[in-house]
Amino acid sequence: MRVPMIAGNWKMYRTAREAAQTIRTLRGLVGEVTDVDVVVCPPFTALPAALEAASDSRIGIGAQDCHWGKEGAYTGEVAVPMLADLGCSHVIVGHSERRQFFGETDATVDRKIEAVLAHGLTCIGCLGETLQEREAGQTLQVLERQLRGGFARHLHSPRLVIAYEPVWAIGTGRTATPAQAQEAHAFLRGLVAAVADPDVAAAIRILYGGSVKPENIVALMAQPDMDGALVGGASLDPSSFARIVKFRG
Ligand code: PGA
Repeated sequence: MRVPMIAGNWKMYRTAREAAQTIRTLRGLVGEVTDVDVVVCPPFTALPAALEAASDSRIGIGAQDCHWGKEGAYTGEVAVPMLADLGCSHVIVGHSERRQFFGETDATVDRKIEAVLAHGLTCIGCLGETLQEREAGQTLQVLERQLRGGFARHLHSPRLVIAYEPVWAIGTGRTATPAQAQEAHAFLRGLVAAVADPDVAAAIRILYGGSVKPENIVALMAQPDMDGALVGGASLDPSSFARIVKFRG
């Protein structure tokens, strides 16, 4: 049985004070939910305040990126042991905005996933095709290249979660249809079975991301290979995010 995960990616929004306030509100709204893993990923600077506001709750707090090293001369970077030391439980790796604007590659995704898992945290590793790739009929090839290049060595870890995020659906209001999302998820699960083994494929969680909202989460979650969502814009509003978390009604 795969426990659904609903994770919020706040991107570069919210100060520490705003984060604490939002998480306190969210706690009040989702406190009783026990059948879904709930995660919120604020900016680095808001992590301590978010952790404090979420303490003794079921809300996990995660970072949006990390460096692959333990420490070192890497100006501006944050290492996984630093996140673990704060109390973070999750790290997002390979988000398309990191790939598009900050030079993230499958090779760096591979190293970052390794670091997150090695330090005992849960890794939400992202992949997905661009509009151009979809229109060229290359979606499945792109997903296969990203999975083999960044994820293949780590699939046996129960703390690896895959997030399928078609780039054309992120922040655009243009959600993949449930059928489009299901096609990609089923393909990825089949690929995990081929690269790792069928038991791993049956256990691994695959989230969908890209304009997820309270209005579309139920139809998405009705798909058999859908194990949750990585939510950007709608996660900034605690009542929208809580409605997504409570997709079961
Ligand atoms: P969105 O972002 O929900 O605002 O489309 C999703 C994401 O980037 O993870």
